[in-house]
Amino acid sequence: MIWMAPLHGITDYTFRNIYAVFFPNIDIALAPFVSITSTEKERVQKFFDFFPENNKNLEIVPQIMANKSEQLLLASQILHSLNYKSMNWNMGCPSTQVTKHGRGAGLLKNISQIDQILNDYFQNTNFQLNIKIRIGYDDNKNFVKLIEVLNKYPLEWLCIHPRLSSQMYDGDVDLETFNIAYKNSNHRIIYSGDIDNIEFYKSLKSQFPKINDWMIGRGLLSNLNLINEISQNRKKFSIDDFKLLYTQLTDNLIDRHQNEKVVLGRLKELWQYFHKNNFLQHLNLTEILRSENVEDIVF
Ligand SMILES: Cc1cc2nc3c(=O)[nH]c(=O)nc-3n(C[C@H](O)[C@H](O)[C@H](O)COP(=O)(O)O)c2cc1C
Repeated sequence: MIWMAPLHGITDYTFRNIYAVFFPNIDIALAPFVSITSTEKERVQKFFDFFPENNKNLEIVPQIMANKSEQLLLASQILHSLNYKSMNWNMGCPSTQVTKHGRGAGLLKNISQIDQILNDYFQNTNFQLNIKIRIGYDDNKNFVKLIEVLNKYPLEWLCIHPRLSSQMYDGDVDLETFNIAYKNSNHRIIYSGDIDNIEFYKSLKSQFPKINDWMIGRGLLSNLNLINEISQNRKKFSIDDFKLLYTQLTDNLIDRHQNEKVVLGRLKELWQYFHKNNFLQHLNLTEILRSENVEDIVF
């Protein structure tokens, strides 16, 4: 299966619905996190991005940021009421705003807390849970222990982005440490990290032949031909296809946000990746990032 990775601030439902039309070979998306802070109640409206009516074109698994079992249990009830059968727990977000509160990848500093939360969760619900992790906070010393702890629980699957939290999104992915999970985890594993060209995808497939789930994030933007190549679809994504995709995305973002500044911010974020495509490399990224209006971005 090919998964669209969660990119917070990018792969929201507007983006997902349009991408699903242009890239029908994406099978499913893990939606970016919604953070749960309360243990008693949460406004359902907070889960807007997960509402089934907003996700008609592509199946999603909702992702939750939490650091208490009560928060996960509360999220499971809300997601059950929205007809979901499973949810994902984020243990990968490296932002210090998140990790300093022991959330996201901050949880990886305390494996016994993860153990306690999971124990409590599975004693109180049957709602399926899957997890997305990194290989550690600032070193990988606890990784073997983490995999052992996770092996005790009936997780639906485990997604691994093989970087440390301290690496943020830089440096190489650590395939040696990933291999520890590949060999020792008893869960279905989803690989996530740096798949942005067909050669790397093929090499991962041959190194880890038991893996059937590949999650792609930034590569979906920086290499618009990748999905066609992976799915052996001979069609080449052209600049004309891009123009259509870009216009639809812009129109839908304007419709949704009704605020040009917000939309311009979103588009600039996307352009950091889009301009890496061969057919867009002639564009001047600095100029695009200086644009003051949506119409100033021409190509
Ligand atoms: C801007 C940005 C936002 C991200 N947001 C999330 C998120 O909400 N939840 C999550 O689990 N991972 C998030 N990630 C991590 C990605 O899902 C993915 O694991 C990581 O980028 C490596 O894969 P890639 O090289 O294919 O992008 C984010 C990454 C980026 C660059």
